[in-house]
Formats: sequence, structure tokens, C-alpha cells
Amino acid sequence: MENLAVIVLAAGLGKRMKSSLPKVLTKTIDKSLICHTLSNLSGLAPELVAIVTGHGAELVEETVLREIKEVALSSSRVAFPRQAAQLGTAHAALSAVPALGDFCGDVIIICGDTPLISAETLSSMLETHRGEGAAVTLLSAIVPEPMGYGRIVRFAEGNAVKKITECRDCSPAERLIREINTGVYAVESRFLRQALSEITNDNGQGEYYLTDIVERAVVAGRSVCAVPLADPDEWVGVNTYRDLQRVNEIILERRIERFLLEGVHILDPRSVFIAEGVAMEPGVFIGPNTQLLGKTVLRRGCSIEGSCYLRDTTVEEGAVIKFGVRAERAVIGTKASVGPFAHLRPGTTLGESVKVGNFVETKQATLGAHSSAGHLTYLGDCTIGERVNIGAGTITCNYDGFKKHHTTIEDECFIGSDSCLIAPITIKHGSTVGAGSVLSEDVPPKSLALTRAPVKVRREYVRRARTEKSGAQKNEL
Ligand code: UD1
Ligand code: CA
Repeated sequence: MENLAVIVLAAGLGKRMKSSLPKVLTKTIDKSLICHTLSNLSGLAPELVAIVTGHGAELVEETVLREIKEVALSSSRVAFPRQAAQLGTAHAALSAVPALGDFCGDVIIICGDTPLISAETLSSMLETHRGEGAAVTLLSAIVPEPMGYGRIVRFAEGNAVKKITECRDCSPAERLIREINTGVYAVESRFLRQALSEITNDNGQGEYYLTDIVERAVVAGRSVCAVPLADPDEWVGVNTYRDLQRVNEIILERRIERFLLEGVHILDPRSVFIAEGVAMEPGVFIGPNTQLLGKTVLRRGCSIEGSCYLRDTTVEEGAVIKFGVRAERAVIGTKASVGPFAHLRPGTTLGESVKVGNFVETKQATLGAHSSAGHLTYLGDCTIGERVNIGAGTITCNYDGFKKHHTTIEDECFIGSDSCLIAPITIKHGSTVGAGSVLSEDVPPKSLALTRAPVKVRREYVRRARTEKSGAQKNEL
């Protein structure tokens, strides 16, 4: 948007968090507080975003620069003015004035610790501001518990905004006001420069209060608007970990509600954790205790039984993920079935109708359509064709102590139970490996390979009870 700049106040330490981390770097379930603010701003595409840093400035700048691509603010110029000492919010805004240069238009000022204020809310505030030709427009909220917040004081006559009084400076009558300042403003840039240069620190905390710009506008005969927030949850600011927990709750509640309305069946929304980048199609079922993380994608009709952890994993249509599965960077094919208790590590790709059963671990493994590894198996660094049966206890011995090696099992092979395939090795199509084999050589197509000690049978063998003296058993094979 042209003629729009934003100042983000992010210099404070956040004493009440009792943490050495600069407060704006505290993470919600998705990302740092400052990145929430920046991604909300991206909807407005301002010309300039000036992020005022102070406490942990280098760390804040580094983090923002690293994460900025993800928040799609690329069309905006980003500056990091420093506030050397934290003398108050007006002083912080004043530190950003040089970064504005000769910018002319409106400046949104927002705190880096209010992650839920949406782009829609900011644009409607701006619309009112511009429509009314106001010098200052602020976002207010009517709350049941105004303790700790600046109160919006209005003129008795006409109800126009008169000033903001900080909580600790309130008179007993002002204390009763339930309309509070959320700390978000739109200010006309010329007025802002002028007003900031005039604010003093003559108040209860000896700080330069940004809220004083309201009174300055009134004194100058300019108009001030207050736009009450429609959604009471939006203004929650993070000052303590308790506030952070509330923010996380709101984020998750909203997300789960959206999926429920989109046709995802979530059996117990209280025990499900869904990260921001997760996508789900209608007809997905999710059982209790499920964590869906990263860029996990669940396609139509797939089902997650419960107690599962999926990160950056795609589950194709109709696949079933049974109880207790952990998967990371895996692709689970259409109608495949995984688990219970399977571990799909990064680089696992399961084709259509593949079956991976209990206590199976895979890593960098591709299994072709209709192949099956039902029980107790390790498949690492391997390419497995279609319609292959992997018997219980099969191990791809991929590691020689120095390097990892690849195993290839072509279509329609049958690997007998308890086989060790010492990589690098290829089992050509249609071959059979006898149970209990340890193979270190390739197997040609349509062959039987087995390494097995001959069976010895001693007839009419009777086990005797151990005698106390000898201990050992006679009659051993
Ligand atoms: C501020 C408002 C208050 C409002 C509340 C809403 C003032 C004086 N008061 O109070 O009316 O109800 O927000 O949450 O503005 N910061 C700096 N440099 C400083 C001081 C603060 O960058 O010198 C930053 C902080 O990092 C924070 C933001 O400004 O992101 C707000 O500061 P904070 O101390 O939390 O203000 P409140 O007391 O909450
Ligand atoms: Ca605050």
C-alpha cells in the first residue's frame, strides 16, 4: 500500500517473562511473536517497516532477516532503528523517525508483542483514519478486566476521545473505564514527527508515553478516532507465559474450528495439535493425541487413528495411519496402511496400498505399490519394487561402520523372515530369499537364495533335568 509505513516497537526486554530472550522472539506454537506481527502486516504491503530494536537487538534483527521470506514482506523496505535505552514507547517511536526519512502518509505503530491483530483489522482502522481525516486513530477494546492497560478517556459531551491515561496514572474514576488502549495506532506522519518531539516524561513512571500523542492532537484541534476491536481475542498482548498460553490456545482453537468447518473430523479437538503449515482435505479423520507438524498434508479420506506424530509428511487419499506412528518427511501412498507402532524416518516413500506393520522402521526407503513389510523390520537406504513381501525380522544392513550402502529389491520378490541383506546388494525381480538367510551377494532374477546351516536331528532325544552338581545339560546337539 502506498503512503503507508509501519513502526514496530520491539526494543523492550519483557521483564515479566523472566527470560533472557528478547520478548518479541518468544515463540508461539508457530513462530516468534515478532514474526506474527510481521506476517499480519504483510497483508497491508506497507512501503516501509521500521522495527525498533534495543534489548537483544542483534538477535532480533538476525531472526527477522532469517524468517522474513516466510512472512511475505518482501515488497516492503525493512529498517532496524535502534533505541539505545528503553525510555518509553514514545521514545521508541521517536528512534524510528530518522528511518522514515521524507516519508509522507500514514504510519501504523504496533507493538511486537500483540501477535493476533489481523491485517483486516489494521486495514479497517486505516480506512476509518483516512475517511475521517484524523491525526490519530487507535484500536481500542472493551474488556471486563482493564487492569494494567491504558484507559481511553472521552469527553463527557460528544463522546470524542480526549486522552489515554496509563493504568498507574489513573484517577479513581478513570480506573473504572473499561475501554482500553490496545497499543495500535495509525498516525498522520507530519503530525507524528511534531508530536513525538514535544512529548515529555512527566508521569508516574518517568517514561515517554506514546499514548500522549492523543492529547497532543486534541490540544492542536485535530481529530482522534478510536476503533473498537470486534474480536475480543485479537488484542491479547504477551507479557507473561500465561498470556502466551492464551495466545496459543486462541491460535489452535481458530485453526481447529476452521478445519472442522471444512469437513475434517477431529474426534477430540482438545488433544490435537496442528501447526500453521498443515493442510487437510475434507473427509480426513483424526483421533486423539495427534500432533501434525511442519508442512504435513492429509488428503481426502485418510485416517489417523491417534497417538501419532507426523511432521512434514504427506498422507495420500484413503491411507490409514494406525495407533502410535511417528513419521517425518515421509510420503504415504493412496490406501496404504502404516502401524500400529511404526517409525517412518525422513525420505520414506510408500506407494499405493503398501502395508507397513508394527515395529517397522524405514529411512530413505521407497516401497512400490502393494508391497508389504508387516512386522519387526528395518528398511534403510533401499529401493523396493512392487508386490514385494518383506518377511518379519528382515534387516537391510546398510551401514558398514564407515558408510551407508543401498539395497535394491526388485518387483515381486519374497524375502523370507529373519533375513539380513548386506548392502550394497540387489535382489533381482521375482526372486525368493529363504528365511534366516544372510546375503552379501546380488541375487539373479527368479532365483532362490538362501544361506542356512543344515538341520541336524538327533532322534529319540530326551531332555534331562539339570542335576544340581553338574549344572550343564548333557545330550546337547
Ligand atoms: C502500552 C500502552 C498502554 C496499552 C498497552 C497495550 C504506553 C505508554 N502504554 O503499555 O496504553 O494499554 O501498551 O498493550 O504506550 N517498547 C520499546 N521501547 C521502550 C518501551 C517499550 O520498544 O522504551 C516496546 C516494548 O518492547 C513493547 C511495546 O513497546 O513491545 C509496549 O511496551 P510495554 O512496556 O509492554 O507497554 P505497556 O506497559 O504494556
Ligand atoms: Ca505490553
